Amino acid sequence: MNITEKILCSHLVEGSLTGGEIAIGVDQTLCHDLTGIMAAQVLESLEVDGVSTECSVFYCDHNTLAISVENADDHRYLRTAAARFGIHFSKPGNGICHFVHCQRFAVPGRVMLGADSHSPTSGALGMLAIGAGGMSVASAMVGEPFRMEMPKIINIVLQGRLGPAVSAKDIALHLLQLLTVRGGIGSILEFSGEGVAGLSVPERATLANMSIEMGATTAIFPSDQVTREFLVAQGRGEVWQSLLADADASYDRTITIDLSGLEPLVAKPHMPDLVAPVREVAGTVVDSVFIGSCTNASLADLQKAAIVLKGRKVASTIDLTIAPGSRQVLAHLEESGALGDLLVAGARILECACGPCLGIGQVPASGGVALRTSNRNFPGRSGSEAASVYLVGPETAAASSTLGKITDPRDLLRPEELASLEKVREPAAYRVDDCYLIGPLPLEERKKVEVVRGGNVSSLPIRGSLREKIEAPVAIKLGDNITTDDIIPANAEILRHIGNIPKFAEFTFCYSDPGFVARIKSMPHSIIVAGENYGQGSSREHAALLPMFFGVEAVIAKSYARIHRENLINYGILPLMFSNRNDYQLIEEGEMLCLGDVVRGLSEGHIIIHNLKRSLSFKVYLPCSARDRRVLLAGGAINDLQRKILGQ
Ligand code: F3S
Repeated sequence: MNITEKILCSHLVEGSLTGGEIAIGVDQTLCHDLTGIMAAQVLESLEVDGVSTECSVFYCDHNTLAISVENADDHRYLRTAAARFGIHFSKPGNGICHFVHCQRFAVPGRVMLGADSHSPTSGALGMLAIGAGGMSVASAMVGEPFRMEMPKIINIVLQGRLGPAVSAKDIALHLLQLLTVRGGIGSILEFSGEGVAGLSVPERATLANMSIEMGATTAIFPSDQVTREFLVAQGRGEVWQSLLADADASYDRTITIDLSGLEPLVAKPHMPDLVAPVREVAGTVVDSVFIGSCTNASLADLQKAAIVLKGRKVASTIDLTIAPGSRQVLAHLEESGALGDLLVAGARILECACGPCLGIGQVPASGGVALRTSNRNFPGRSGSEAASVYLVGPETAAASSTLGKITDPRDLLRPEELASLEKVREPAAYRVDDCYLIGPLPLEERKKVEVVRGGNVSSLPIRGSLREKIEAPVAIKLGDNITTDDIIPANAEILRHIGNIPKFAEFTFCYSDPGFVARIKSMPHSIIVAGENYGQGSSREHAALLPMFFGVEAVIAKSYARIHRENLINYGILPLMFSNRNDYQLIEEGEMLCLGDVVRGLSEGHIIIHNLKRSLSFKVYLPCSARDRRVLLAGGAINDLQRKILGQ
């Protein structure tokens, strides 16, 4: 068996590894401040005493600065809900969820479900770590298994060694070149080959992290001696176990990459798969550089940036900001002297948090060009639709910040500096300080905790059960690759309302269609039409919740991103698919559609839609499992869970 099959086998609750829907038990969960509020509201509504997982964590890492009372209310709600339900709470400033999870919680061979699309990062330690919507994660927290179609397993064989100034980010970008943002859909990327042994756990984390950019369900690495050394250095050696693919393991597809043939790469605006060699865009003038995010803010990433910057200055035209991945990373930077090198060169150090990755701070100027080590460069992701964002590795980012233009680090660095980059190693013992991690209380103490909602946390909107006949206008017609950032953007100003659904909903499609909210408010019920890969990007479930709040009953698209489709079902919205992609042309915004016999169509897997304006009909598919059908009939996962747990 391969590694994925071994873990699935040991966690299988229903189904078969030969295909179809499987259900697996979940050992750990992860939520952050944008997804945890919803999860906490679900736990409250289910009146449970606590979570039933081995370990669940709420991280405060996205909107950390409490720039408003709403934001502070959200933090307090999360902290008190964590205390009430037996959940670890990672305080603002402790670090980005995926970094801290790898450092302090991830366990080889276990299953983690995270309410964030980059949860696969923990796959660096041989954990099966999958991103999901907050509702699915909340369900797992009360003991529900996680369901998915049995994925294909793609074997990514790494051979050889990376050259100087070529990093794990360049492997990820190369894979994006090969697979595109859709090539991993329905698949798990399993890494193997002799090149894996040359990659540290943080380097593996960069690769596992960006598997979601290829649409993959997750990515996983073997648990080997490198994993063991990392866990021992974190003081957690006892959780290590060897986890390797059998010699005769089989895969659905194999891709082989010669690491020694790679060079520094860049993803050009505005998609992570628009990849080119850095040398092709060298000389492009840049305004700002950000080194950070859950992809590239490890100790080694920042030490390498420090090597590039030492003895040089950040160009006068450049704003260079650096956000270390965690307090542990920051502590080591300070201890090693690298922090001083970064500061002397002119870098600004931000809090250990997501920050500019999702447009919280460092929004580029109008028409600005930004260079980032993060994982997404969709339009508007940086907080500005008009910005051009390039994604690169830390060495390229640091080199470019000294010259004010995109620079291949190999053209800047002296031979001894290139050699120093290759000598950067993980510490034999990390500085472990968990004072920003609040552990769960004993059950009797938990029961006394009051969950403090504050004024910003509204109650969870709940819809009625599925209607037999849906007659509604098309509220918006969208193109291909619409991201959850397009549906509900995330920046500090908007995100402060995340706990207040009616207020937050006012920002739905606010950049791409400023008239959307006024239009949809005039429609008691409505339908969204979209092209390929609808809902790609962040796992943000509000991209389903807010349309549900406005009365959207169905989305008709050519295809969906996995997590968003799951979110639509969890909020009782029918995720319909054109049976003939050309039928997309048969609908325009504002036209009235009629879906009759919806309940029977749900069980048969297809529905006939009548376009009342054009007097024509077409067929749409709704392939779904028994659980999906049950949830859609109930009007969403919260109704389904309440029936099951509370008997309502
Ligand atoms: Fe945070 Fe950006 Fe990762 S928002 S979780 S650093 S993708």
